[in-house]
Amino acid sequence: MLGKLAAVPKADSMNEPAVPPAEIAIRDLGVRFGGTRPALQGVNLDIRHGEFVALVGASGCGKTTLLNVIAGLVPIAEGSATLSGTAPAAGRGDVCYILARDALLPWRTVIQNVEYGLEVSGVRRGERASIAAHYVEKVGLGNYRNFYPSKLSQGMRQRTSLARAFAVGRGIYLMDEPFSALDSQTKLLLHDLLLDLWDSSGATVVFVTHDIGEAITLADRIIVMSKKGSGVVDEIPIDLPRPRSADALQADEQYHDLYRRTWASLKASTV
Ligand SMILES: Nc1ncnc2c1ncn2[C@@H]1O[C@H](COP(=O)(O)OP(=O)(O)OP(=O)(O)O)[C@@H](O)[C@H]1O
Ligand SMILES: [Mg+2]
Repeated sequence: MLGKLAAVPKADSMNEPAVPPAEIAIRDLGVRFGGTRPALQGVNLDIRHGEFVALVGASGCGKTTLLNVIAGLVPIAEGSATLSGTAPAAGRGDVCYILARDALLPWRTVIQNVEYGLEVSGVRRGERASIAAHYVEKVGLGNYRNFYPSKLSQGMRQRTSLARAFAVGRGIYLMDEPFSALDSQTKLLLHDLLLDLWDSSGATVVFVTHDIGEAITLADRIIVMSKKGSGVVDEIPIDLPRPRSADALQADEQYHDLYRRTWASLKASTV
C-alpha cells in the first residue's frame, strides 16, 4: 500500500522549498474527436502524488475527456500526458476509474463484487476474502455483504463501488461525478467515507463534479476548466483543515468565501 506522504526531493539550496514531483503531468494537451473544435486544447496541469484534485467546469468543457486521457482511453492529438513519467494506457494496474453509474456485477453479492476487483488484480484467493471483508465493513455494509446489487439503494451501491476500488489499493483514482445520482444527505455521508478511504490509502484522486460544495469539502485544490476546452482557467487551493465535516464547514466563513470565489471563476469560465 502506498504511504500517505510522497518522497520529497531534496531542495537545491537550503533557501528553496522542496517541490514534490507531479504524479500526473499534462502538457499542452489537445484532443480531437473530429469536427471543427477540439475537445481539449492547450491544457496544462500538474497533480502531485497523494493530492485530491476536483475538476469543475461547464458541461462539455472536456472534464470527462481529460479523465479518459489519463485513463488511456482516448488518443492524444497534441502535447502529452504522463503518469509517474510514463504514458497513459488502458488497463494500467495503478489507475482505477469510478463513474456515477456504478459498474457492479448484478449476479454477484456485495462481498463477491469487492472480491472481484481483487480477483482481476491478481490477488491470491486466500487473501481476497479477508481484504474484501475488511473493506465491506469499512464502508458500513457488513450486514449487507450477501445482498445482490438489485436489493441495494443507490448509496449502498456506491459504497460497494468504493469498497471494491479501494480494496485493490491503486495509486490513482479517477472519479467522474460519482455521487451525482445521490440525494444530498447520502452524498454527505459518502463524502466522509471517501475522505476516510483516501486518507488511509495515500492515493491521488482526480474528482469531477458540478457541485461546488462537494469540490470544496473534498479537495486540496479545485481546477476550473474553460468552457471552450482551452485549458485551465483557475486553480483554487482549498486550505481548510482536515478532517472536514459538513457541520464545521457550514459554520466556517472561509468555506463560504471559497464557494463565492469558485462560483465567480466558474461563471467567468463560461463566457
Ligand atoms: N467519443 C466522443 N466522440 C465525439 N465527441 C466527443 C466524444 N466524447 C466527448 N466528445 C465531445 O468532447 C467535448 C467534451 O466532452 P466531455 O464529455 O469531456 O465534457 P464534460 O466536461 O465531461 O461534460 P459534462 O459536464 O456534461 O459531463 C464535447 O463537445 C463532447 O461533445
Ligand atoms: Mg463529463
